Amino acid sequence: LWLALGIRKRKPGEPPVENGLIPYLGCAVQFGANPLEFLRSRQNKYGHIFTCKIAGKYFHFLCDPFSYHAVIRQGRHLDWKKFHFSTSVKAFGHDSMDPRHGYTTENLHQTFMKTLQGEALPSLIETMMENLQSVMLQSDTLSPSKDRWDVMFESSYLTLFGKDLGNDKNAARQEAQKALVLNTLENFKEFDKIFPALVAGLPIHVFKSAHSARENLAKTMLAENLSKRENVSDLISLRMLLNDTLSTFNDLSKARTHVALLWASQANTLPTAFWSLLHMIRSPEAMKAANEEVKNILESSGQRVDPSKPQLTLSREDLDNMPVIDSIIKEAMRLSSASMNIRVAKEDFLLHLDNQESYRIRKDDVIALYPQMLHFDPKIYEDPLTYKYDRYLDDNGQEKTTFYREGRKLRYYYMPFGSGVTKCPGRFFAVHEIKQFLALVLSYFNMELLDSAVKVPPLDQSRAGLGILQPTYDVDFRYKLKTQ
Ligand code: HEM
Repeated sequence: LWLALGIRKRKPGEPPVENGLIPYLGCAVQFGANPLEFLRSRQNKYGHIFTCKIAGKYFHFLCDPFSYHAVIRQGRHLDWKKFHFSTSVKAFGHDSMDPRHGYTTENLHQTFMKTLQGEALPSLIETMMENLQSVMLQSDTLSPSKDRWDVMFESSYLTLFGKDLGNDKNAARQEAQKALVLNTLENFKEFDKIFPALVAGLPIHVFKSAHSARENLAKTMLAENLSKRENVSDLISLRMLLNDTLSTFNDLSKARTHVALLWASQANTLPTAFWSLLHMIRSPEAMKAANEEVKNILESSGQRVDPSKPQLTLSREDLDNMPVIDSIIKEAMRLSSASMNIRVAKEDFLLHLDNQESYRIRKDDVIALYPQMLHFDPKIYEDPLTYKYDRYLDDNGQEKTTFYREGRKLRYYYMPFGSGVTKCPGRFFAVHEIKQFLALVLSYFNMELLDSAVKVPPLDQSRAGLGILQPTYDVDFRYKLKTQ
């Protein structure tokens, strides 16, 4: 009978299991409604580890931060590729990028490391800074009728995917370029709305307008269109080359792999920029400290803010040397991040926890970490629901890296970018671009909330598990160019 119902019975040595009330879905509905609450209540009931059936799979949730390394350390029993590659195929519709499936021999991880980190970073940052200033100041994008999402989207889109070839001062061309970017943003938003449903396994055909939005995005990413653009980032150029030389993808599948990168580069960055700006503006102390930090950095490199000549530069060292703004962003991400870290068991094995207990895990089961439990743990972060801009600053005003739980130092206390081998390869660029955005807003504009008493919008839980959560409603800002 157990088998017929698809219900698992706990075997000796396995974590406690909850099959949920609904066949197949299991606990999916309760989990989806409020993952943090759901996991906390189960943690209170069962302890450090427990198993929940979610959409046909068995998830072992590991809730003890001191045992995280057992999963993060790349053990021979755990596979991260299976889940990541299949999620990307479900969401973006390209052929499998898992070399084991035979469509490509590209090592994606290497591609990302080579083009988003280390030596590749300074030129990405430089291009982003130019694009941000040109989008903010040389066009009407940052007029009160438009919002700042456009600024971040447009600038980083141009940074990664380049500009229309022959894009010069010709007004008509610039208009066309702008129209393309805004169109891409509209399609991106339409597609992004249903992203959680696609990850959950629903077919894209169910969603007519999102489906056509995804196809429209893919068309703009066909090689024939991308090759007409100049200043394309190393990331996209190399991916185009490797698609052509190492894969058997057809043209559309190749284009869809670029749509996946468009999504990865924007979906979390946009809400992070929003939350960072909102929390900073709501806190007078944060504004004061951030303003001072930016002023000092610009002064030390002898730069003057001049909106009629928007050519400020912030080097990688400058950006690495902004602990206040770094803490402002980190704290915004602590409060809004809800990514789930996932590994799949390659075989039956024994998982050893920090407290010397061991648990039997079955092949193909999922082991999941949900770092929001860390981020909202009052034993780690006092008063965890409150935004404190200086939470990640030490007594000397430098980055704080020591956090404790019940007197024990934590190795993992902040995980919005994932962990171990699957840690976001774009995280340095992401934080740098948001720092640039905030520094430029502070330098060029007087910005305030339209409604100074506006409440911080609650988190939209519909994408819990997938990254930075969006606000349930928008907040309006008012800004004015600073006069010299
Ligand atoms: C993967 C977070 C910005 C490129 C990821 C993952 C997370 C994440 C949680 C998955 C890690 C895992 O599954 O364990 C974020 C956040 C961002 C951000 C919070 C902004 C605040 C960016 C940017 C880029 C980028 C700007 C590129 C320019 C990627 C790529 C992957 C990824 C390519 C997939 C890596 C792989 O599967 O090997 N990101 N990300 N991300 N991110 Fe980011």
